[in-house]
Amino acid sequence: MLVSCGILRGTGILLGIINKAVTWVQYQFLVAFGRLRGHGRGEPSPAADGFSNDDLRGYPNNHNYRIDDGRLIPNFNLFWRAARLQPLYTKEVGSLLDIGSARGWFVLEAARTPGCRLAVGIDIFEPWIELSRKVAKKLACDNARFHYGFLTDLAGDPDTLGAPFDNILIINTYHYLFWGSGLSDKRFDDHDAAIAALARICSGRVIFANPLDLPDVPRETRDIAALEPERAKTYTTEAFTRAARRHFDVEPHGTIGKRTLLVLKKRTD
Ligand SMILES: C[S@@+](CC[C@H](N)C(=O)[O-])C[C@H]1O[C@@H](n2cnc3c(N)ncnc32)[C@H](O)[C@@H]1O
Repeated sequence: MLVSCGILRGTGILLGIINKAVTWVQYQFLVAFGRLRGHGRGEPSPAADGFSNDDLRGYPNNHNYRIDDGRLIPNFNLFWRAARLQPLYTKEVGSLLDIGSARGWFVLEAARTPGCRLAVGIDIFEPWIELSRKVAKKLACDNARFHYGFLTDLAGDPDTLGAPFDNILIINTYHYLFWGSGLSDKRFDDHDAAIAALARICSGRVIFANPLDLPDVPRETRDIAALEPERAKTYTTEAFTRAARRHFDVEPHGTIGKRTLLVLKKRTD
């Protein structure tokens, strides 16, 4: 029984990936064909939209995309990450919050899913929040919202944030929430505080892929950690998982790039 469930789930994920791959090839073909025919294909323009496709590229380059003919077209890296992450969302995506939403792709994609009531992105880098809002306007995504700020400040007003969310994404961002960053020194006191904040605004699951051991974090984070050796001892996968289990069932789902992919399912007991 367990084996057949596993096979069915594996087949479902594989079909999802194939489906996304076909869509991606289709997109590329449409774009190339549109260019050959000399069409603008509805690309954003600084004069009319306040941004261009060039603004949707840069660091982090696994979050690059462009807009063509009203479509969101990810680069291959982003497409591939989405193909791993999106099958882990709840079956119906009623709502989604992306913490560290960068240029907003995951939020905008979710907002365009039929049945999605609200998709929200938060980030500590204001230019990306402004850019994401312009993209949402261009695509007429009325159910997409973007907020600038740290999670605890925004979660203090759950109605404005739109909590609780069925799906929360934290991808390559948790180490900044735990350690702070050059963009903001705000951070959680410890894993328990971070997990408790997530549990308050989550009604479904947290999809989580982040470096959880110091050798895996970016140099900037390692430099901060080097100044705080006692706190550094608590930044381990084991300590994170122990804290997460207080509010969530922790399911491993292999890896995405170098990161372990976890789904934290909110417990109702
Ligand atoms: C490596 S990017 C990941 C972006 C996106 N989650 C993805 O996987 O494509 C890290 C993100 O965390 C945001 N960030 C950095 N410091 C932060 C902080 N202290 N609090 C919240 N977000 C932060 C950055 O602005 C950036 O959008």
